[in-house]
Amino acid sequence: MKLIGPFTQIVTLNGLPLAGPLADDRLEIILRGGVLVQDGVIVKVGDFNTLQKEAEEVEEITGDHVLMPGFIDAHTHICFAGSRAGDYASRIAGKSYVQILEEGGGIMDTVRKTRAATSEELIEGMVLRCNRLTSEGVTTCEVKSGYGLSLEDELKMLRAIREANDQTALDLVSTCLAAHVKPPEFEDAASYVGFLIEHVLPVVKSEQLANRADVFVEPSAFAPDAARTYLQACRDLGFAITVHADQFTAMGSMLAAEFDAVSADHLEAVNDAGIAALKKKSVIATVLPGATLGLGMPFAPARKLLDAGLCLVIASDWNPGSAPMGNLLLQAAVMGAAEKLTTTETLAAVTVRAAAALQLNDRGVIAADKKADMVAFPVADFREVLYHQGSLQPNLVWKNGMQTHIPH
Ligand code: NIG
Ligand code: FE
Repeated sequence: MKLIGPFTQIVTLNGLPLAGPLADDRLEIILRGGVLVQDGVIVKVGDFNTLQKEAEEVEEITGDHVLMPGFIDAHTHICFAGSRAGDYASRIAGKSYVQILEEGGGIMDTVRKTRAATSEELIEGMVLRCNRLTSEGVTTCEVKSGYGLSLEDELKMLRAIREANDQTALDLVSTCLAAHVKPPEFEDAASYVGFLIEHVLPVVKSEQLANRADVFVEPSAFAPDAARTYLQACRDLGFAITVHADQFTAMGSMLAAEFDAVSADHLEAVNDAGIAALKKKSVIATVLPGATLGLGMPFAPARKLLDAGLCLVIASDWNPGSAPMGNLLLQAAVMGAAEKLTTTETLAAVTVRAAAALQLNDRGVIAADKKADMVAFPVADFREVLYHQGSLQPNLVWKNGMQTHIPH
């Protein structure tokens, strides 16, 4: 058994309720702590000197450090080719995201580039992004398909995600987002959804390329009728459901609740009826400040969602269009300041609550029997981490108990 430490503070995130507001006095902090690890799993967390008696070896940490669980980015689109810097320039000059989408650009622009890319190119791009994520303290990351929109290209993306997972330190969790937008080869949303149900979802399921399915619910993507048909089929096939909901128009959260989705993501335009529906079905509210920053739009009402009793998760939405930045800690800190979230609420939203959004109960806290996925910052006070709003980077990251190289 290996003892890692001593850490000036260990912020365990353990013992917190999974929904609703979190006062900062609930945060468990162990002073001069250590973590006993065996086979990638945490055996014990506690006082460093006490644990030393049980350790066979010590991985010594010198200087002040705060340790917390590795971050979990529960919503990204990091499998893509090309750039949308042109879209961004048009948007900051006044054109809207939906306008670009309706003109056949936006998501479809990335679809054309992703279709043209080889698997190797997609894997290479993802591995580079994953290395950056690791250096920022992310140890688990969800990745969606959705830039293929044909059988072969959706499978190409999902297989590339599987391969990138094998080539990187962090864990990738795949989600099928074949219902991102309707590609021009199809007349209408209903016929595309019919094709997905008949030809794409069954293969994704049988090849076990993803056990989660997502749909972009929006008048310019999938309106509720088409989305409903799709979600019904996803549910029948046994996919866990997540929805791109209420980004511009309030409609998706009602549907997410109707289909007992694990999470409803975005929620910038959510209304009171949507919040009540999510609460009733305990659907997790995943907010995406990266899209707010990338589109220059208002934040989702994170404070209100917590006060309504929901489980709030913050994810980066890293993608080439709406959220090109992809820096979870920076975005969580900035949103926390804007929305008046407590330190505990913000940290839980990128660790233990984010694990719940991916239905992973083996991580997200520093506690016995959990994965030793951990991140350390070179400071003496955990409050420094959000205070620096992403400019303070972790200097040590462990995945399954092993230190990973940080390419700063
Ligand atoms: O979550 N809004 C839909 N999908 C993504 C953006 C994808 C893109 O613009 O390429 C999002 O914001
Ligand atoms: Fe997204």
